[in-house]
Amino acid sequence: MCGIVGYIGNKQAADILVEGLSRLEYRGYDSAGIAVYGEDGLKIVKTMGRMDDLRKNLNEFGKPVGSVGIGHTRWATHGEPSDINSHPHKIGRVTLVHNGIIENYVTLKKALADAGRTFISSTDTEVAVQLIDSLYNGDPLAAITAALEQLHGSYAFGILFDDIPDTIYAVRKDSPLVVGLGEGENFIASDIPAVLKYTREYILIEEKEIAIIRRDGVKILDVKGNEIKKDTFKASWDIEAAEKGGYPHFMLKEIHEQPKTLRATISPRLQNGPAGILKEEIDDTLKMERLLIVACGSAMHTGLLGKNAIEKLARVPVDVHIASEFRYSDPIMKQGDAMIIISQSGETADSIAALRLAKQRGIPVYAIVNVVGSTIAREADYVIYTWAGPEIAVATTKAYSAQAATLYMLALRMAVDRKTISDERANQLFNALNELPDKVAEILDNNMAHYEKLAAMNKDVHDLFYIGRGQDYALCCEGSLKLKEISYMHSEAYAAGELKHGTISLVTEGVPVVAVATDDSITEKTISNIKEVKARGAFVIYVCKKGAAAEGDFYDALIELPVTDEVLMPIVAIVPLQSYAYYTAVCKGCDVDKPRNLAKSVTVE
Ligand code: F6R
Repeated sequence: MCGIVGYIGNKQAADILVEGLSRLEYRGYDSAGIAVYGEDGLKIVKTMGRMDDLRKNLNEFGKPVGSVGIGHTRWATHGEPSDINSHPHKIGRVTLVHNGIIENYVTLKKALADAGRTFISSTDTEVAVQLIDSLYNGDPLAAITAALEQLHGSYAFGILFDDIPDTIYAVRKDSPLVVGLGEGENFIASDIPAVLKYTREYILIEEKEIAIIRRDGVKILDVKGNEIKKDTFKASWDIEAAEKGGYPHFMLKEIHEQPKTLRATISPRLQNGPAGILKEEIDDTLKMERLLIVACGSAMHTGLLGKNAIEKLARVPVDVHIASEFRYSDPIMKQGDAMIIISQSGETADSIAALRLAKQRGIPVYAIVNVVGSTIAREADYVIYTWAGPEIAVATTKAYSAQAATLYMLALRMAVDRKTISDERANQLFNALNELPDKVAEILDNNMAHYEKLAAMNKDVHDLFYIGRGQDYALCCEGSLKLKEISYMHSEAYAAGELKHGTISLVTEGVPVVAVATDDSITEKTISNIKEVKARGAFVIYVCKKGAAAEGDFYDALIELPVTDEVLMPIVAIVPLQSYAYYTAVCKGCDVDKPRNLAKSVTVE
C-alpha cells in the first residue's frame, strides 16, 4: 500500500512528483523518495519519514533538475522503514518504484546472490530491480517480460532505464496503477488524485500489459509486444475535493461532507419509487436466497448494519464475514448465494481474494465500492458505487455512511421485491431515506462543541466501552474502532447484554461507557444493562433519540440524535461517535489523518 507517481514532460519533474506524492501520502508515509533524470544523469533523493522530511532534504541538498522522474511514498512490508529501504531503488542501469509484495523474493534473492549479486537493502523490491537489471541487455521490454515470468505476488512498478532516459515503463498485477494523459506530458499514479491538478484523462493498465510512457504519447503492449487499444476515462473528481477545504484535518472535513456524500449516493437511486431503487445496478434481487457480505474493518461493520436491515425487512439470511478469515475457513457457498464485497478503496487484498474465490465457485458478486475503476469494481459482476468522493483521512467516515446507506437501499429494494413489507412501510422508509442527509446535517450544525467537550473530559482514561444491542451493537463496533485507531485509547464494543459475562469486571469508578440505544424495541433492555455499569461507577454517555432520554439517574452525559426511521438511525448516530473519536484524538495531540501503523488502502494480506 504505497503510492507511486511518475512524470515525463517539459516541466520540472521534482515539483510534480512531490506534489503528486503529497496527495498520495495516505497510501503510505514511513518514507518517501524521487528519482529524476537530468543533464547529469539520474539523481535520487529519498528518506525515511514523511513528505515534509523529503521536502527538507530537497531544500537542503538541492532539487534534482530534469523533466523525467518517478516517486514513491512507502508503507513498509519487507524491511523496516529506513533511508536505504526507501524507494526508488537503483541497481545497475535500472531504477524502480514498487507497490505490492514480491512473494517469492527469498528464492529469487538466493538465486541472484548465488549468481554474484550483492544486495544493499532488505526489501522485496530490490529483488525485482536486481532481477530486471540482470536480465537487461538493452531491450527493456524483453527484460521486464522475462522478469514478470519469475516474480510472484502483487506489484505496480514504475521503471526507468539509464540508457533510455526519455521513457517511463509501467506494469502492474494486483496493485493499482493508472496512466494520466496530458498535452506534451504524461504521468503514472497509484491513484488519480495524484495527477488531477494536471489532467483528468487517464487509462487503466490491466494485468499482463506494459505501458511505455513518453512525452508525446503512451503505448500499451501485451506481453508479446502487440499494441493494445485502450479506452480513455475522464475523472469527474474535483481537485478541491481532494484537499482540506479550510478544515484542520481531512477527517473533520470528511465528517462534515456526509450530508453531501449521502445525498450523492442516495438521490440518484430514489428517482423511481421504492421498486426502482438500485434498478440500474441490479435487475433481479429475487435470485438472492442468501447473502454473504465480506469486507474488512469499518466496511465489515457496515456489513453488520446491512445484515440487520436486510434480515429484518426482506427476511433473507445474511452472513457477514471478515475477509481475511473468509477464504481460509473453507466457506460454504451454494446455488442461490450471492456475495457482497464492501470496500472504499476497492483494492483491499483480502476482499479481492474473497471475490475471486466466489467467482471461481460460480457465485455472483456485487461490489459496493467507492473508487471507480478499482480492482474490486472491475472484477465484480455488478458494481454499486458509493459516491463519497476521495476519502483521504485514513479513518473512514463518509465512505462508511455511504456504504451503510447503500445497504439500507438494497434492504428496502429486496423487501419490496419480496413483498415482505407493506407498501405503506416501503414508502415510509423511502421518504426517510430521502430526508436522511438533512438529519445528518442537523447534527453537524448544532452539536460539535458538545462532542468536543465530552472528548476533552475523557481524554486521559485508559479504557472505554461501547455498548448497544442489535443495530446499536454494530454501530458500537464502528464507534470503538474509530476511537482506538486515531486516539490510541483502548476501547471495546460489547453487545450490551454480554458485558456481564466477563468484561464488566473492567468497569470501575469513572470508566466511560458509551451506551447507544436507537432501537425502541430493545431500549428498555439496554437501559437495564446501562444501570448495571452505572452501579459499578461507570461514567455513562447515553446516545439516544431526541426526547427519548428516559428520566433517571443512569447517565452522566447525553448525546441526543435527530429522529429518523428506526432502521436508518445508525447513520445519524455514527456522526457523534466519529466526532467524539476525532476530538479525543485532537485533544491527545495525535496525528488524526495518518494514525500510526495504519494505511488507507490495505493491499497486502
Ligand atoms: C477504519 C478503516 C478500515 C477500512 C478497511 C477496509 O477507519 O478505514 O478499517 O474500512 O481497511 O478498507 P476498504 O474499505 O478500502 O476495503
